[in-house]
Amino acid sequence: MLKKMKLQKTSKGTQSIEERIQHIQKQELPKHIAIIMDGNGRWAKKRGLPRVAGHHEGMQKVKPITRLANKLGIEVLTLYAFSTENWIRPKMEVDYLMKLPQEFLSAFLPELIEENVKVEMMGHKDKLPVHTMKAVQKAMDDTCNNSGLILNFALNYGGRDEIVNAVQNILQDAKNGQISTEDLTEETISHYLMSKNLQDPDLLIRTSGEIRLSNFMLWQLAYTEFVFTDVLWPDFSEEDLLEAIEEYQRRSRRYGGIQSEGKEQ
Ligand code: FPP
Repeated sequence: MLKKMKLQKTSKGTQSIEERIQHIQKQELPKHIAIIMDGNGRWAKKRGLPRVAGHHEGMQKVKPITRLANKLGIEVLTLYAFSTENWIRPKMEVDYLMKLPQEFLSAFLPELIEENVKVEMMGHKDKLPVHTMKAVQKAMDDTCNNSGLILNFALNYGGRDEIVNAVQNILQDAKNGQISTEDLTEETISHYLMSKNLQDPDLLIRTSGEIRLSNFMLWQLAYTEFVFTDVLWPDFSEEDLLEAIEEYQRRSRRYGGIQSEGKEQ
């Protein structure tokens, strides 16, 4: 059952971040972490600021979280930055959100290159403003040979839309004789999704106390561990990420099977 949980405070309060990192790295790390970055608007409202101020602060938070994920040795960090449903927001807010990749990358791309981070994107590129896509494309081009953390932005992305697209492409390939009914497996479908080159997320984090998926990676999250936290995204700290990973490491993943012998519950 999906349960809203308060991230467990352990005795970690007395440990430094470095000590916590070392401890975390001794156990199995989630290879792919996906985050629904929610609560920017509420963060701004609490401070009497316009919603876009929350988005700006949320963008700033991507930097330390990416640095820490890279340092930990996480392979993929997928961030839900704009959904196919977000277009219905006021034009001014949408325009602002569409400027954030540019601002973020103009300041942060040199560091991403230096730190061996590879920028990728999943979502419909054609509907994005030219300036947004140009910035993202440049980042993808400039980092395409990097072999460290994959920083994957879900931008103009929707899980159902992705599945519809996959089915359309499968039908087209079937018509062309490139695929037959017997060929169709779970792997085939995964291969037709926008995340085809990435493994499924091991850990999903959603901030701001909301307990829903909001059309995010519907196929890929089938066996993912979910961590929901009340922390608003602009307040989400490195400690919060470590806490979510520690919670993940306490879970036992069975994929429909049973507890393997010798593994602690
Ligand atoms: C949801 O919060 C957040 C978004 C729709 C946008 C998320 C985008 C960022 C955090 C910045 C992305 C950064 C880059 C570099 C692309 P909300 O506005 O729905 O918050 P609310 O539920 O409190 O209103």
